[in-house]
Amino acid sequence: MQVRSAVIPAAGLGTRFLPATKAVPKELFPIGDRPALQVVIDEALGAGIEHIVVVSSHAKPAVEAYLSPAPEMVEALRAAGKDDAAERVESIGRDWKATVVYQDVPKGLGHAVGCAREAVGDEPFAVLLPDELMGDSSLLAQMNGVCTSTGGSVVAVLEVERSKVSSYGVIDPSGERLPDGVIPVRDLVEKPPADEAPSNFILTGRYVLTADAWGEIAALQPGRGGELQLTDALRAQAARSPFHAVVADVERYDTGNPLGFLTASVSLGLSHPELAAPLRDHLSEL
Ligand code: G1P
Repeated sequence: MQVRSAVIPAAGLGTRFLPATKAVPKELFPIGDRPALQVVIDEALGAGIEHIVVVSSHAKPAVEAYLSPAPEMVEALRAAGKDDAAERVESIGRDWKATVVYQDVPKGLGHAVGCAREAVGDEPFAVLLPDELMGDSSLLAQMNGVCTSTGGSVVAVLEVERSKVSSYGVIDPSGERLPDGVIPVRDLVEKPPADEAPSNFILTGRYVLTADAWGEIAALQPGRGGELQLTDALRAQAARSPFHAVVADVERYDTGNPLGFLTASVSLGLSHPELAAPLRDHLSEL
């Protein structure tokens, strides 16, 4: 079954990016001519998703403004003969459905995703953390296929040095990694100390979850850091149902910090049809 909805948690206040985030949410910082949020949305659309649910905060009205129709802007662009720009602006929320829901109290990732329950409904769904940008939609499409064939939830993972695992969710594999990068999972743990981690495969911001995740999310109790952790809801699923990880084999950019954002801008700029050549020239000059 093709997953139809993607949840994008975007309610954080971006304190690591102050003062840039004082007035502009970091999800709207540009990567070339697209806001980072649109890069994530395009990844979801490329994997066949048609409904984007952004979990925002009332402190970030620009996120809702970006996702809302702007008929006057479209009209003005058309009148000025800027049809390409008009088309791109008009396509937002027209070619795919956009819903904004709110999480005004920061109670953790599990709570943020739970805020999207009504908008998504009782069906499987994807979760895309916008602090991570992927080079294309292939990972999400593969995860969707694994969810369909196994009937269970799927998470994306990356293999990292053991010293780094304590900042992430970590899987406990129940078998070997298959040639297509799929690993069966029996348990997951949020931010374990490195010497207690069950593996060095970390959760990397992409999830395809079966609908029973909603019940597990609603039942969450405070976990690591006193927050309602999405990882703990998945752990309950893995204990009773098939559960798999897919090793991410795409370019991936961590935009959770200013250096990562700069790196993503340059790298993704180098694959942009018009920006790539002049950007490469400029970098060579530097
Ligand atoms: C969240 C998840 C964690 C995951 C990480 C990926 O952590 O809780 O399991 O590994 O995203 O970026 P956060 O970065 O919000 O602390």
